[in-house]
Amino acid sequence: MIIIKSPLEMRRWADQKRATNNTIGLVPTMGALHRGHMSLVEAAVRENDMAVASIFVNPTQFAPHEDFDHYPRTFEKDCELLKEAGVACVYAPTAGEMYSQDFSTWVDVELVSEGLCGGSRPHFFRGVATVVMKLFHATKPQRAYFGQKDAQQCAVIRRMVRDMDMGIDIVEMPIVREADGLAMSSRNAYLTDDDRERALCLSRALFAVGERLRQGEREAAVMLESVREAMREVEIDYVVLADADTMQPVSRVEGRVVLAVAALLPTARLIDNIIYDPTENTVS
Ligand code: PAF
Repeated sequence: MIIIKSPLEMRRWADQKRATNNTIGLVPTMGALHRGHMSLVEAAVRENDMAVASIFVNPTQFAPHEDFDHYPRTFEKDCELLKEAGVACVYAPTAGEMYSQDFSTWVDVELVSEGLCGGSRPHFFRGVATVVMKLFHATKPQRAYFGQKDAQQCAVIRRMVRDMDMGIDIVEMPIVREADGLAMSSRNAYLTDDDRERALCLSRALFAVGERLRQGEREAAVMLESVREAMREVEIDYVVLADADTMQPVSRVEGRVVLAVAALLPTARLIDNIIYDPTENTVS
């Protein structure tokens, strides 16, 4: 497994692999890898000739008051896991290489970025879309893998790729959960035992509504009220039922929808969601 740190070197590697007819699958990450990330990595290894994982804690998606400085960084361990999984290349650029002093070009994905996480973290999706565009340019993948846990992020990236004719397949992989239902996240490492216990109300609330959706419930107000009630012990950031592609809130389930929640616990901000597909009557 090769570790590449500069965009130029990364582009050269990718050009050479593509010139010899290899397909490239990218898993963009900020490191601190857990089983959720590894499910994306395993799919990328399985479905492409060359799997690339990027590790870059992207400063432009953190607001000044957020956890950029404290974000867990476990580079050596991450590389061991990636090597074992069969990854061909780790792309780990430095912040200086990614953002020159006078960096001034940003990717803004309108509408899909607004509301939900975009409402509480207004800087966030501009930073994500910009860095993902840069990672795509450097690694030149045919496929890129993202987790459903960041459902709005997936919708933003899909929209960017479509609008900018980037010709990259965005593969959205299911949420990986702990045995008790907690969605895996690098930020779970921040949780105290007490907060971790209280955090379980997110997935429990979602699973209960998932069952009601399967049984035919269609009214958003009824479901949102029941999620809020089940999450009364945590500070709610948002509870939204939205169209799964546009991320616009809906009052009734007519097509594929995401029921998304975010909560502010004393030690971490957590998000979780379920996606309901009425044509299949499935919850994922
Ligand atoms: O989901 C993440 O880990 C990040 O938002 C991403 C996609 C790697 C961009 O920094």
